[in-house]
Amino acid sequence: MRIPIIAGNWKMNLGRVDEALAFVRSIRHRLNEIEGVERVLCPPFTVLAAVADILRPTHIGLGAQTMHWDDRGAYTGEVSPAMLAGLCQYVILGHSERRTGRVAFPDHAAQVSVENDTAVNRKVHAALAHDLIPIICVGENLAQNEAGQTHEFVGGQVRAALEGLTAKQVERCVIAYEPLWAIGTGKAATPADANRIIGLTIRGAIAEVFGEATAAAVRVQYGGSVNLENIAAFMSMPEVDGALVGGASLKPDFVELVRQAALARCWSKRT
Ligand code: 13P
Repeated sequence: MRIPIIAGNWKMNLGRVDEALAFVRSIRHRLNEIEGVERVLCPPFTVLAAVADILRPTHIGLGAQTMHWDDRGAYTGEVSPAMLAGLCQYVILGHSERRTGRVAFPDHAAQVSVENDTAVNRKVHAALAHDLIPIICVGENLAQNEAGQTHEFVGGQVRAALEGLTAKQVERCVIAYEPLWAIGTGKAATPADANRIIGLTIRGAIAEVFGEATAAAVRVQYGGSVNLENIAAFMSMPEVDGALVGGASLKPDFVELVRQAALARCWSKRT
């Protein structure tokens, strides 16, 4: 049985120690009490250690938002898997804001890829070697979606990210299907579309290379404008194993969103 996982990707927000600690203190007890879903916070690097300290007595997981693949070296500004191991348990890899270069050139996205398929694959190998669980983001842009290229493009991203892994390693990975046009736009994919892409395209690509049993074991989240109103509909889809939440993870009612997710999954399993 796949345990659902809801992760909050704070992006470049709440990165001062005082604001991060105040926010986490305000939600951690209620978040910790929710059963049936794994819950993970992914704050900026600047507050990882401080947040790790106050999450230690809880079951709430902690993740970073990216990392390099090497353990050390002349890579100014980069953070290595060796630095993260022991500090957190998860790491987001291949987020579209990095794949498209949006983090570097917001007005000229797609000019420079800070994280391409090759880099993501190296990072996935490095994360697993350090016992970090990679949350691997994949997703098509609007033009690809409208041109009917979603299946081919997203399937290709999945195969590239997982290349060279063993089936056992693939089972430890989490994949997040985040269509670019749904991120931060308030225009989420429909739950039925997310279910179809995750089932046919993402599990399909995994099954081709690693077999049906592995495809059935991997947890796949949906991400892109997930909020309190739509989380239950996504969670009641059989292929959707949770969510990667951006904007809605920065507010205290993230706890309520996680509670709704747990409830929806519980009911959909019963019926
Ligand atoms: P939003 O939930 O703000 O649309 O962001 C989604 C996302 O990019 C999570 O990684």
